[in-house]
Amino acid sequence: MIRAKIIGSGACLPDNVVTNDDLAKRMDTSDEWIRERTGIRQRYIAKDGEKTSDLALGAARAALADAGISVDVLDMIICATTTPDESFPATATVVQSKLGMTRGAAFDVQAVCSGFIYGLSVADSLIRTGSAKTILVIGAETMSRLLDWTDRATCVLFGDGAGAVVLQAHDGKGDNSDAGILNTKLFSDGRLHDMLYADGGVSSTQTAGKLRMQGKEVFKHAVTNIAAAITASAEASQVDLADIDWFVPHQANQRILDGTARKLGIDPAKVVSTVALHGNTSAASVPLALVEAVKDGRIKRGDLILLEAMGGGFTWGAALIRW
Ligand code: ACO
Repeated sequence: MIRAKIIGSGACLPDNVVTNDDLAKRMDTSDEWIRERTGIRQRYIAKDGEKTSDLALGAARAALADAGISVDVLDMIICATTTPDESFPATATVVQSKLGMTRGAAFDVQAVCSGFIYGLSVADSLIRTGSAKTILVIGAETMSRLLDWTDRATCVLFGDGAGAVVLQAHDGKGDNSDAGILNTKLFSDGRLHDMLYADGGVSSTQTAGKLRMQGKEVFKHAVTNIAAAITASAEASQVDLADIDWFVPHQANQRILDGTARKLGIDPAKVVSTVALHGNTSAASVPLALVEAVKDGRIKRGDLILLEAMGGGFTWGAALIRW
């Protein structure tokens, strides 16, 4: 059986760090309020002119270097983003060009904060069906461009960044000892649009709009949906949650991470958290957290890891991976 194995990973953050105290100088908020409600201490914000494709390119180059492969080996680039450089073409094609990749295909996926899980799922399917051998999956965002900086209830939550992985076809036995993606589970419910959306778009307002959110409602659904996605993915491969070495969640809010772990009886020490440093970077948050835990040596070859996310739509999902 063909498995999609992660052979490299990399991240890219803007240079510019913005702390909660920095925000408190610009608006009526405080480090204490933000930390208590969310766990966020700082976020990275792209400089003027720094685009999603620039961050995506940085993460892509780091992932290719980590995998030890040249760009010529890539069959496809999938970029998950809610904040593309332009309405079209896809940010993935901008990255393709900047990498000097002259063959294969590149396209974006849009599932907001779940985008990286959706991208992984598409890449996994393409590799397992033999349509591609090597795929670069990127989650990249400049969420700072989509924020209403006069709305303190949302603008303090988000940040910019990018993370990427290289997936490659490997032979497996078809059981849980295989390296690579063991399963992915995707869900959405479009009826929940009004809880989290951007109030603009090409065909409606001809503007990008700004992010709007009903925070309390999102919070409640997040814990329920993320717990359901984790359970569905674990059950699909008949894995006990206790046997999973690392949970790498979407980094929206420390209280969502804690609430989900409590609901499922997961040891909080097994939950990778970078929300304090990055804030919510939407589609970039799962790969950024993944790269952090790989680089600092927590995630090791052979570990069983579960990635999960939820975002606007609502969309949610999970991926079970043998590292
Ligand atoms: N600084 C200071 N005070 C603030 C701020 C701020 N940045 N923002 C809001 N407040 C005030 C409000 O005005 C309100 O004041 P009032 O009582 O005088 O009216 C008070 O704080 C409480 O506001 P709430 O909105 O009720 O605060 P809550 O405790 O619900 O926390 C939060 C808000 C942090 C957004 C929370 O609802 C949350 O985390 N929700 C999850 C949303 C999320 O993570 N979304 C990410 C995208 S979705 C995803 O990725 C899963």
